[in-house]
Amino acid sequence: MSVANPRAFVVGHPIAHSRSPLIHGYWLAAHGIPGSYERLDVPPAAFPDFIRALPDSGFRGGNVTIPHKEAAFALADTLTPRAKAIGAVNTLVVEPDGRIRGDNTDAPGFCAHLDHTLGAAWPARAGGTALVLGAGGAARAIVVGLAERGLRRIWVANRTAARAEAVAALASGIGAALAWDDLPAALAGTGLLVNTTSLGMKGQPPLAIDLSPLPAEAAVADIVYAPLETELLAAARRRGLAAVDGLGMLLHQAVPGFEAWFGPRPAVTPALRDRIVADLAG
Ligand code: ATR
Repeated sequence: MSVANPRAFVVGHPIAHSRSPLIHGYWLAAHGIPGSYERLDVPPAAFPDFIRALPDSGFRGGNVTIPHKEAAFALADTLTPRAKAIGAVNTLVVEPDGRIRGDNTDAPGFCAHLDHTLGAAWPARAGGTALVLGAGGAARAIVVGLAERGLRRIWVANRTAARAEAVAALASGIGAALAWDDLPAALAGTGLLVNTTSLGMKGQPPLAIDLSPLPAEAAVADIVYAPLETELLAAARRRGLAAVDGLGMLLHQAVPGFEAWFGPRPAVTPALRDRIVADLAG
């Protein structure tokens, strides 16, 4: 069923912290679209019924966040190849025939942010070797995204080694798990270091690793965005390395959803970024 004013949502539990309404609200206003983007708090037990009711709800789709990304993967009618590879869904689209398509835009969001900050040649740094720290949901998406962009080697290091093996296996043929103790040796050949762990987040200890072995052309990316300038990024800047903060991934992952639900492809502008930075600071 289509309605005059397009509607989309972000669903999670809890959901109060989500910045997505601010991002999509900003774009709706910028494009003069009389639509809405709504925050929905749905507990896990109610999520299957929420998905079943979606085709007749009037929503064109929405974002899915913690703890529903795996459930959305299981409940969607169809999945994009990327969502299938990652095993989690963060974007739902209700098709005109009522079927629900599940996508994952975290991977292209992360890579689009690197394109904007480092230029499109970033996958070639240090011969195309990336090192991903952490093995949670964000790491899964990023490893799939990096593999799509033609990286030649992707190392995954994690406190719990078995999880690193599973995530490295997503990048078939080029992914390999790395023991935490072997980080110093691996850093010497790394062109892109990515922190996907929660270390460095407000209230968490910092990620304390020595960046001195990294080559001069290496870039360091953090997906933590509160604070925006983590100790890891500060250490990278002190060494003169390119440093990529976590806010860009959040902004860029929202682009494909907005386009699917509301029509125009929105731009990630400095003004939008400033708006979110101000909100995070407040
Ligand atoms: P997300 O879905 O956001 O990636 P997650 O699945 O909770 O979140 O993953 C958090 C990541 O941070 C994991 O890689 C976790 O390591 P474990 O798999 O060993 O749990 C990592 N992490 C969290 N706290 C950590 C700490 N104190 N030291 C090292 N790694 C930590």
